[in-house]
Amino acid sequence: MKKIKNFIAALCAAVIAISVLPARAIAAPDGRLLAITFDDGPGKYTDELLDGLETRGVTATFFVLGSLVGKYPNAVRRIVQNGHQLASHTYSHLQLTKLSAPRLKSEIDDTRAILAAYGGEQTYYIRPPYGSCNAAVKKAANAPLILWSVDPLDWKYRDTATVTETIVNSVQDGDIILLHDIHETSVKAALRSIDALRAEGYEFVTVSELFRRRGIDVQNGEKYYCVRNEGVNLGPSNDAETLKEHWASNTISYALENGIADLFDDGSFRPNYSMSRGAFAAALGRLWIKNGGDISAQGGAEYKFSDLPVSSDYGDYIRWASSEGIMTGYGGGKFGYYDAVTREQMAVCVTRYLKFVGADVSDSDAYLSYNDSSKIAKWARGGIGCCTDKGLLKGDEKGEFRPKTNMTRAQVVTVIKRIDELLQDLRAEKEAKDPALTPVLTADGDAVMRETAALKPKPPEKAEAQTAIASETEPAPPSVADVARDTFLIPARLIYRAYSSILSLFGKK
Ligand code: NI
Repeated sequence: MKKIKNFIAALCAAVIAISVLPARAIAAPDGRLLAITFDDGPGKYTDELLDGLETRGVTATFFVLGSLVGKYPNAVRRIVQNGHQLASHTYSHLQLTKLSAPRLKSEIDDTRAILAAYGGEQTYYIRPPYGSCNAAVKKAANAPLILWSVDPLDWKYRDTATVTETIVNSVQDGDIILLHDIHETSVKAALRSIDALRAEGYEFVTVSELFRRRGIDVQNGEKYYCVRNEGVNLGPSNDAETLKEHWASNTISYALENGIADLFDDGSFRPNYSMSRGAFAAALGRLWIKNGGDISAQGGAEYKFSDLPVSSDYGDYIRWASSEGIMTGYGGGKFGYYDAVTREQMAVCVTRYLKFVGADVSDSDAYLSYNDSSKIAKWARGGIGCCTDKGLLKGDEKGEFRPKTNMTRAQVVTVIKRIDELLQDLRAEKEAKDPALTPVLTADGDAVMRETAALKPKPPEKAEAQTAIASETEPAPPSVADVARDTFLIPARLIYRAYSSILSLFGKK
């Protein structure tokens, strides 16, 4: 009887594992496209906007002022790194039609030179200030002139709800939307509009990608307001070629093959994007499932976050991670679904995951070994110390941990893969010692672990769970632009005990 029960449990886990694998449709060729654009920045809200775009996997076009680039260099670097289109709004926002020829030339050429220092030699599209354009401007531009077809007057209303409503109610396929990232209300309206319009099936692309998808051979000195579908509607470009060159190429293949991470709607992986906390919960949950775990039996008692999207792909994983005390949110009922997972958050959650699977982990003072240890939040010290002791996370070339830096998607899957490999090693090691634990094949081929008296995975004690909740109350810090490649080392002896816990899963009532 017990054996049958165990078999059913394993079968359920297998079915769940299959049903939660990513099944994201790649946008159809008849898909509706929009380009969202931002003028007059960069400014003090640009980073907030970049965070929001990053976790949504959305690209935009930034028409920046040459005179402001030096004030926000990190924001401009992030624009380029995150695959947005960097473009010119001229140097000092003068009305180009009123300028002398030399001044007109310097407004355009000086900005192009500044942008080239960030995005390399290429054609930087231009949006003339006030949309003001004549024959002289067209001639001096030496680039396509990009106007707009949707203008919610965000600079005038400075009201998130009004601006969002105007955008959502007025867009049509092929529109170019004008906003200004120097206003906080505009940044919030942009993100809200993106959420609403993506739910309606729109895909957001950069202006240059909009031209490419519509088969338009864009011309220097020509004005463009929108790019409608006139019969040509190409599919998204695949980043498979780019991925081949990436340092985490093998790991990304592993992550996709095993369903650890999803592709974005356009079929790309975007390894250098930050990973959202929602996607991180899913990655941990899928690792658990891959090793025979079950996320379905957790009930809903602790699933109480108020900030999850209505149709969340990752809801079940978040419920599991929350009820097991692995990811407990920020407090106040907030999970921070779209926020990027930072290095310190990851350290804390990985430590909890190791505890959950029964690994022998303990907090330590090893965080003090980093040159920037004073920047490490109190709640994260133990986790960072533990991950450092175990060789899971290490500092950069300057000996800094950079606790508030976002983890990229490539870095997260790298950590997940190494944990997984260790679990496999430990499983093999344990099996060699105890043949009673070898898998038995059932009649229909499902591998079922024979019941053992091994330890059960032990959820955190009440007091521990309380600490866990208290220790993740800080909101995700603003991201840091330059996320260097990290390497993660894991000593082979790690998580020895985790193995036995996983085996025992099917013995769980
Ligand atoms: Ni402007």
